[in-house]
Amino acid sequence: MNRELLLMKQHDDQRIGTSVERATAILQSGGLVGIPTETVYGLGADAHNTSAVASIFTVKGRPADHPLIVHVPDLASAQKWAAEWPISAEALARNFWPGPLTIIVTKSPTAPDTVTGGRSSVALRIPSHPLALQLLEFFPGGIAAPSANRFGKVSPTTARHVLADLDKDVDYILDGGPCDVGVESTIVDCTVSPPQVLRFGSITPEQITSVIGPLAPATGPARASGMLDSHYAPRCHVHPTSSLEEATLLVNQLSTKTRVLNGSLNPQQFAHDLYALLRLADDDGVDDVVIVLPDDDDIGRAIRDRVFKAAADHSNDHIS
Ligand code: TXA
Ligand code: MG
Repeated sequence: MNRELLLMKQHDDQRIGTSVERATAILQSGGLVGIPTETVYGLGADAHNTSAVASIFTVKGRPADHPLIVHVPDLASAQKWAAEWPISAEALARNFWPGPLTIIVTKSPTAPDTVTGGRSSVALRIPSHPLALQLLEFFPGGIAAPSANRFGKVSPTTARHVLADLDKDVDYILDGGPCDVGVESTIVDCTVSPPQVLRFGSITPEQITSVIGPLAPATGPARASGMLDSHYAPRCHVHPTSSLEEATLLVNQLSTKTRVLNGSLNPQQFAHDLYALLRLADDDGVDDVVIVLPDDDDIGRAIRDRVFKAAADHSNDHIS
């Protein structure tokens, strides 16, 4: 390795570590920290520091009207962000927090517009990753964090992914290892009655229904940015298929560098690996990735949702 590369590597390595103290100091001084959660890595800022939150939007290239999720350490901290705390939010929080569920409630008048994108609601979550929880102990007021990728691209599930995407735009990355779940949290809007799932994740509508009763149908206009047609897009072209046979037929028609990923055998594991595999395909210069979809249930729903969005035509891409 030449000296320049070595220095670069050392510099990178200094920006990835396990020091909660360092992450805390950076957030307190208005910097941005890559934060491990059980779903994907977040790009965190002190939620009450308006200029730090504004820099998240600049770094991600994200439109200012796309609101951020506020990560909090406990229920009392979550409630401070809310003007109302409906029974549905209370029941969901008690059953699924800490964990991969984001709850949307009517925002408190003190919730900064930079965080909520000027909306009257706010998205809240207590993540379960131990390092995230340790960090949040120093920020009971909340850490605002979207996924730590450039806007419209694949979410990061390791500290290295964050560095590869954001490079010097992130001040420090707290390395909590690969994310357990691998796809973003389930989002439930509790400002409407009955509540509505806005984004599928590892917590299923059935699990939610078993706690709060029937949900509104998860269709309708895009209300969360993750519900736009094209999102989570790698450079390679993604082709969803419904069986290995269909995938094989397609591969035989393609004359490009192609890779098949089978998501139907072990959907849980596939969710864990999906984003890393798409990134690897890009790194390896693969042109076409043919994916065998899992069944449309459990975590399979979240996987299918992300795969279809990754497959959406890039030329019509109105967001990246
Ligand atoms: O698992 C996750 O949720 C990860 C980790 C880091 O917590 N975060 C994440 O954040 O996926 P982000 O910003 O990539 O996606 C959050 C989604 C966006 O689609 C945003 O538009 C939506 O949540 N959202 C946030 N606040 C909202 C609100 N008040 N009303 C409707 N949608 C909202
Ligand atoms: Mg995202």
